[in-house]
Amino acid sequence: MRTISGFAETGPGTLPRVNDFKPGLEGVVAFETEIAEPDRDGNSLRYRGVDIEELVGHYPYENVWGLVVDESFEPGMPEPESFRPATLSGNAPSDLQAAFAQLSSEWKLRKLVDIQPQEARDDLARLSGMTMSVVAQSARVADGKTEPVPDDFIAQGTTAAEKFLLRWRGEADPRHVTAIDTYWICTAEHGLNASTFTARIVASTGADCGAAMSAAVGALSGPLHGGAPARVIPMLDAAEEMGDPERYVRDLLDRGERLMGFGHRIYRGEDPRARLLKPAALELGSPRYEVADALEQAALAELHRRKPDRPLPTNVEFWSAVVLDVAEIPPELAPAMFGCARVAGWSAHILEERTTGRLIRPSARYVGPSSRPAGSVL
Ligand code: COA
Repeated sequence: MRTISGFAETGPGTLPRVNDFKPGLEGVVAFETEIAEPDRDGNSLRYRGVDIEELVGHYPYENVWGLVVDESFEPGMPEPESFRPATLSGNAPSDLQAAFAQLSSEWKLRKLVDIQPQEARDDLARLSGMTMSVVAQSARVADGKTEPVPDDFIAQGTTAAEKFLLRWRGEADPRHVTAIDTYWICTAEHGLNASTFTARIVASTGADCGAAMSAAVGALSGPLHGGAPARVIPMLDAAEEMGDPERYVRDLLDRGERLMGFGHRIYRGEDPRARLLKPAALELGSPRYEVADALEQAALAELHRRKPDRPLPTNVEFWSAVVLDVAEIPPELAPAMFGCARVAGWSAHILEERTTGRLIRPSARYVGPSSRPAGSVL
């Protein structure tokens, strides 16, 4: 009999034994995946077996998308199609969520349960390509610019990151392009995090790819997953203003707050993405490098002092914030930038989920009031 993390298959026709309750599902293995391997002990991250250190600076994001989704750099993520979303509020995550839903119906995307893998892959490729376009258009609106940049001008860009900036700002500084490409590659996929789990849950119902992607965007807008960079920059500003990173960290923790960009469910030693992004921030000449480095040292020391048994390393989002800041990405756009990167992982997981064909339906243990008459409720 094969046992997966507390679930024992008890034989045909019988229900699996329910495992122990784990808050946050920590340590519960819900799927087997061939996509990414966050290596907890080696503190490294591999997409389809390839270490991300071999990808950054060697392949542009759109080819890394190909590696994650197709296990092949070519043809990679396609160019976005010409499209103006019905809703462009300037709030990028909600514009993206709405755009995915709109594209589902405009393109008449068929349900995953009714289509073959190639059609699902092509739907996801089209949607992924559109992501950068929608976020760039939304960011442009947030900047108060109502006229879109002409498509033929954007076509002069060579990479997805460059075209993203051209569509948004009408110009693309090469340092900004490198910063965004590096960030997108480092955050393209990371196993079963909250947004990816959401995408898989929706895919497991047999919904269409746009519905699964739209749901995933909703899951990443909270600050505990994908949204932390938006809170890191204000933290750096406050620490710099105080001029004493150690005191800043102590005061924040004394107030019972969390240091954004520290701690991780998987990595206990070092987050390999932070290891890549930190030198990138230095090489790109980040004006915040010094203050970020000082705050990181102060935070790691104080967290270790307060929680000696719980390693709380710098995570991807701390140095992501600094790298995105090099490209002058406003903190509030950070969750949408994360969404642009993570479409690779979501797409690959939606395809993988489709192959299992098994509806995701875990159990909840009831701990509410015992049976009682309606009249006893006030
Ligand atoms: N700052 C201060 N304390 C932290 C902390 C942080 N960033 N991260 C964890 N802790 C503390 C918690 O308060 C908790 O203390 P307690 O046991 O006294 O209650 C303990 O460490 C364990 O926290 P827990 O939430 O159970 O850890 P987790 O592994 O489930 O959480 C994160 C992982 C990422 C959600 C968590 O570390 C966090 O909130 N980090 C800040 C947000 C962030 O950077 N998100 C991006 C993740 S890539």
